[in-house]
Amino acid sequence: MPTVTPLFDISELTENSAKGIELNQRKLFAVCRQGRIYLYENRCPHKGVPLEWLPDTFLDVEKQFIQCSTHGALFTIDKGLCIAGPCAGASLIPVSYEIIDGQLCIPE
Ligand code: FES
Repeated sequence: MPTVTPLFDISELTENSAKGIELNQRKLFAVCRQGRIYLYENRCPHKGVPLEWLPDTFLDVEKQFIQCSTHGALFTIDKGLCIAGPCAGASLIPVSYEIIDGQLCIPE
């Protein structure tokens, strides 16, 4: 059976909220939208920097898009596709996960 690393209890992630995760040198973030969780690498495809404004703050004011705090690029929550900004057409890198006993886990 493959080994997994639990990242957080999914009850911590409420609808339309986001959560940053640091795992060793790796930065990820999760967003909950319409009951689904989306997990991405926390790296803007424009300059390769982390996206958040403040801890766990990855969404725009209307909570419709993921927004990069550096130059304001907007990404769709469900696909991570940049639809406005300097990296339009580029995408965030999705991270696959599984939920085990209420914990969001990624393969080691
Ligand atoms: S670094 Fe994200 S939009 Fe420029």
